[in-house]
Amino acid sequence: MTIHPQNDRISSPRAEGRGGIASSFPAQFTGSIEDLVSALKPQHPLYVLRPQILAPAARDFSALFSGDVMYAVKCNPDKAVLQILYKNGIKAFDVASVEEVRLAAKAAPKAKLYFMHPVKAPEAIREAYTIHGVRAFVLDTQEELFKILRETDLAHDLELFVRMALPKNSSAAIDFRAKFGAMPEDVSLLLQQCRPVAAKLGVCFHVGTQTMNPSVYARAVNIAAAAIARSGVKVDALDVGGGFPAAYPGQAAPPPLPQYMKAISGALKKCGLSDMPLLCEPGRALVAHSTSLVVRVEQRRGDLLYINDGTYGGLFDAGRWLNLRYPVRLIRRDGELHHTEMLPFRLAGPTCDALDMMAGPFDLPADVRTGDWIELGNAGAYSRGLRGNFNGFGKSAAIALYEPSGAELPK
Ligand SMILES: Cc1ncc(COP(=O)(O)O)c(C=O)c1O
Repeated sequence: MTIHPQNDRISSPRAEGRGGIASSFPAQFTGSIEDLVSALKPQHPLYVLRPQILAPAARDFSALFSGDVMYAVKCNPDKAVLQILYKNGIKAFDVASVEEVRLAAKAAPKAKLYFMHPVKAPEAIREAYTIHGVRAFVLDTQEELFKILRETDLAHDLELFVRMALPKNSSAAIDFRAKFGAMPEDVSLLLQQCRPVAAKLGVCFHVGTQTMNPSVYARAVNIAAAAIARSGVKVDALDVGGGFPAAYPGQAAPPPLPQYMKAISGALKKCGLSDMPLLCEPGRALVAHSTSLVVRVEQRRGDLLYINDGTYGGLFDAGRWLNLRYPVRLIRRDGELHHTEMLPFRLAGPTCDALDMMAGPFDLPADVRTGDWIELGNAGAYSRGLRGNFNGFGKSAAIALYEPSGAELPK
């Protein structure tokens, strides 16, 4: 095993407090995950980024999608993640707050930023436009359009995207239609209002995160095409949003990405929009598998393992809202193999809140003990950016792992 700390001490991989947004590339470690844990014996949750997984994921996604891919920064705002994505073909980022604008502008100064939150603070629009050169903004109301125009002093170089609400998507883990998006009739009106003041005009939607059915994208393209036709104005781009899924244990495997791309291009062709320039805003599908979270078992009570991270930290999606199961691997405190029978376990987070529990089940060796570590996979998506500091359990650290014989993910 080889350790390549970015700073001079491997014993301190980059520690993070609340928020978990990285400020520098983490220390690096070459070896197996077991070697890494044995070397560090992490007492706080440890994010383990595998560039060997992230870089090809970025390249594959860009190669498959016939348009511009903008990565949704909210999904994992780690600076190293943004930089690896940028180096591997993702040249645009979807940002949702002024903090994300600043972060992305710093991590990848040449990346194009799209400010895709439909309800933005006026100060955020002004700073994004005047200081960071952001020109692309989303809106789903006339009020937001006026706000963008006011805060950019009636700029002539705006790229405006009108976000459209979609019908219920029961194949998604979270359906976003309750929160954002104009109804298709209103989209047509907004397009008419935006056209005279927009250098570029687009329509966008988000079908819902972790969408398991590719035909939902085709349906959304059809609705967008009808709204565009009704508006009677020229629309320059269609942004099909995020929502592309990652594989999680306990769910049917998602259809492969090419099926999603085929559904989108097929629908565009049928609507006569084959030449429409396309964009998308993936988060989860790009980064989920790139990162694991190593947690420590602080106590065992039967099938319930009390661990040092939970739903107020990096494991929100494993809690009662989404109940996602994560792939897991036990890393024993003494490195020995005791027992091979697997049993289903539940997890309890470190806070005093009884909601901070994760039903799983998480399949682990029957003799898991206090002091063992668990590697949870899929922590690349919606984990680092969600960390809070409730009950004082906000600390985490991060490191990049290179496995000489190829990345070996937990199952
Ligand atoms: C506007 C917007 N774009 C893209 C995404 C990324 O979605 P996903 O991670 O499902 O691909 C989100 C997620 O919340 C979003 O709100």
